[in-house]
Amino acid sequence: MDDEALTSNRELWDAWTKIHVGSEFYDVESFRDGRKPIRVEDYEIAEVGSVEGRRLLHLQCHFGLDTLSWARLGADVTGVDFSAEAIAAARALAADVDINARFVQSDVYRLPEVLDDQFDIVYTSCGVLGWLPDIQAWARVAARFVKPGGFLYLTEIHPVAQVFDDEGVEPGQLRLRYPYWSHRDPLRFEVQGSYADPTAPTEGLVEYGWDHSLGEIVTAIADAGLRLDFLHELDFVRWPTPFLVEGADGRYRLPPDTPGQLPLFFSLKASKPAA
Ligand SMILES: C[S@@+](CC[C@H](N)C(=O)[O-])C[C@H]1O[C@@H](n2cnc3c(N)ncnc32)[C@H](O)[C@@H]1O
Repeated sequence: MDDEALTSNRELWDAWTKIHVGSEFYDVESFRDGRKPIRVEDYEIAEVGSVEGRRLLHLQCHFGLDTLSWARLGADVTGVDFSAEAIAAARALAADVDINARFVQSDVYRLPEVLDDQFDIVYTSCGVLGWLPDIQAWARVAARFVKPGGFLYLTEIHPVAQVFDDEGVEPGQLRLRYPYWSHRDPLRFEVQGSYADPTAPTEGLVEYGWDHSLGEIVTAIADAGLRLDFLHELDFVRWPTPFLVEGADGRYRLPPDTPGQLPLFFSLKASKPAA
């Protein structure tokens, strides 16, 4: 089942990449012409620290906007993604903006078969873990590529924010719908458009997804031999979410009159002890 699901997801990402490179959501033009040259957020830059001259591996890099942003901040970057379309678009974009970057097409689980290297920083972000059936195996791969003294940095939607219905709900309406803990069989969705362009034609495409609790993610990282430096739980989601409202800063939060609070995103840093 996992192979079939991963193949279907790869086809989906090939199709979505073609939509995304020309979308308003990603606004590649302003990255090219320098109006919006950096796409990683300020909190990430502060938490990761200086990347000047450091080797950074970006897992699930999509078509490279974030990877190339880290390069513009001084890192020596390698991006990995299983979508051939995404890797081709990332290479074309790097050439266009004249940034030296390496992009590798690989399923994240198979990366140790094609890349024999270690990095100061392994980075991954925003909509990555829900595509992965096995969080323990993912953490082992991520840790394998961190060099002694280096670290993994992950920022992602909070698993708590993933349990609520995201269809037919109003801001503030929190209706439990999805699992919190890992499940063997993936959730299956007929795809309609893309998060970057809900009206784009995506007939016949199917998405498979898996959930992982915060405890399972952190424990998988610890089991893989990394030591937690911090885990920050954040009060916003970085993309439109039906049960949240957009703030002046472009982030999505619970409506201000909501009684109580929830974590909606997180960032985490975990280091490999120096040899
Ligand atoms: C939401 S995107 C990453 C977000 C990125 N920060 C962005 O917005 O541009 C998720 C990426 O994961 C990749 N992906 C999904 N499953 C994968 C797998 N098993 N191995 C490698 N890449 C995978 C997809 O091709 C896609 O490019």
